[in-house]
Amino acid sequence: MHQDFLPPGIVALTGAGISKESGIDTFRDEGGLWQRFDLEEVATMEAWHRDKKKVLDFYNDTRRMFRAAHMAPNAAHKALALLERKYEGEVTVITQNIDPLHEQAGSQRVIHMHGRDGEIRCMSCGTVTESDADLSPASVCPHCKAVGELRPNIVWFGEMPMHMDEIDAVLERCGLFLSIGTSGDVYPAAGFVLQVRRHNRRARAVELNLEPTGNETLFHEHIYGPATLTVPPYVERVLAYGWK
Ligand code: APR
Repeated sequence: MHQDFLPPGIVALTGAGISKESGIDTFRDEGGLWQRFDLEEVATMEAWHRDKKKVLDFYNDTRRMFRAAHMAPNAAHKALALLERKYEGEVTVITQNIDPLHEQAGSQRVIHMHGRDGEIRCMSCGTVTESDADLSPASVCPHCKAVGELRPNIVWFGEMPMHMDEIDAVLERCGLFLSIGTSGDVYPAAGFVLQVRRHNRRARAVELNLEPTGNETLFHEHIYGPATLTVPPYVERVLAYGWK
């Protein structure tokens, strides 16, 4: 099909809530990571300069939590993969999550805007390497051999998210914007819905979340409940009837 005749794209912005039922903690819910840890102490550049060991230990521990969860994609991840396979236009997942569950469910177009688990980056030479090993201030970059410069390839507060040019382009082609399992507290992701609606006045925006997030006015429709129960029927509905 010629590009001009492709139907509008679908974008699903996902957050920690979509992986909750796969056993991964969210950040801001009761008992979430940012209730148990002070993000200023473990997820900022200032924290890294103040106490590298503390930052690296936090990520070493959360990586272990990931592994212990025996993560597997759930019905919501799988439904988005089905949507990508069946919809005749472009379907893109923009995820704030660092877990690999969208890919494991079969999604092909996944943008990890906050980085990915299992990658490390050298602050000295910039090389990104795949690694599941624990890091410490004594770790040596396999590329440039700098000591104490390796960090998780994960975006910290105050840093620019990754792949923003690609994200802007995808949002421009978007006709249906889904926000799934995210509190909408963190920018720029929280602003994507407005970006889509400003660019395309006919675009539809739907929020699927466990509970109201306080962003009611930004979306045309809200569907509340656990993602495994709300996303699959919503995807079936779009595939059967569209979203108008
Ligand atoms: N199904 C659907 N939604 C759920 C579920 C579920 N089973 N469980 C929880 N939620 C919802 C919560 O109600 C909440 O609104 O998911 C949302 C999770 O919000 P956050 O914990 O704030 O996670 P997220 O929005 O992904 O955070 C954004 O903040 O700390 C940074 O970089 C981190 O990527 C993260 C970003």
